[in-house]
Amino acid sequence: MDKQNNRLVLVTGAIGGLGTAMCKELHKAGFHVIANYRNKEKAEAWKEKMKSENFDIDLYEADVTDFDSVGNMVKKIEAEIGPIDTLVNNAGITRDGRLSKMSKDDWDAVISSNLTSVFNCTRHVINGMIERKFGRIINISSVNGQRGQFGQANYSAAKAGMHGFTKTLAMEVAKYGITVNTISPGYIATDMVMAVPEKVREQIVSQIPVGRLGGTHEVAHLVTFLASDWTNFITGANYSINGGQHVY
Ligand code: CAA
Repeated sequence: MDKQNNRLVLVTGAIGGLGTAMCKELHKAGFHVIANYRNKEKAEAWKEKMKSENFDIDLYEADVTDFDSVGNMVKKIEAEIGPIDTLVNNAGITRDGRLSKMSKDDWDAVISSNLTSVFNCTRHVINGMIERKFGRIINISSVNGQRGQFGQANYSAAKAGMHGFTKTLAMEVAKYGITVNTISPGYIATDMVMAVPEKVREQIVSQIPVGRLGGTHEVAHLVTFLASDWTNFITGANYSINGGQHVY
């Protein structure tokens, strides 16, 4: 892939497993990468580690569930570095449990972190992209937003909601050179997946035809492809990356 001329890409929830892999791959491909975080202490240790591996990545704090917090972060990035060309809506959490036991807090937390955050972040960058007639929005959804998963009514609802958001926004901004796509990873070897009880996880892995969890780098390569200048005609799409666990 050609080097991407230092285009600015903002990755939300960047210091988690998937986010870290994305930052590295995007950096290798020539993007100027900005990592959004919430926990300062963790983020600073992360930046040092990235630096030691020769990844020079800028850190910006914002709570993606808070519209104004994201607005302040975007203004700061634009003033200090420049306009955001690509947004990767990656931040997300799980609060698994059967609906019959799910608290209102667990519902609200997952919807606001995984879905309202997508509105908050996209809303603050979309008008700049429209003015500049270029943009990439990449939403990280999940196989469990496509097919459902026992114990994830909140998460599946939020991740499925991303698809509707992607398809509609893709239509609205196509004429401005902005593409909007969704990636739906299956079970990837991240802390989030490793938090699933071992027995349950083993049973899930046994249903993946490829026979293993996905690698974070495998999702990161797909993000980098969608962020590139090669994908002007791909919009409103959903890319499954799940080792064959859900085919349709
Ligand atoms: N299908 C049918 N029944 C199931 C089931 C399943 N998949 N999983 C559990 N059950 C049943 C059990 O057999 C048991 O039934 P009985 O009461 O009749 O014996 C009952 O549900 C147990 O449920 P409990 O409410 O007591 O809860 P638990 O403590 O066993 O935990 C759970 C339930 C939280 C859903 C747990 O099974 C779990 O963590 N499952 C995994 C959920 C999951 O896949 N999360 C993905 C996280 S990673 C991610 O989200 C990233 C991504 O995008 C893929």
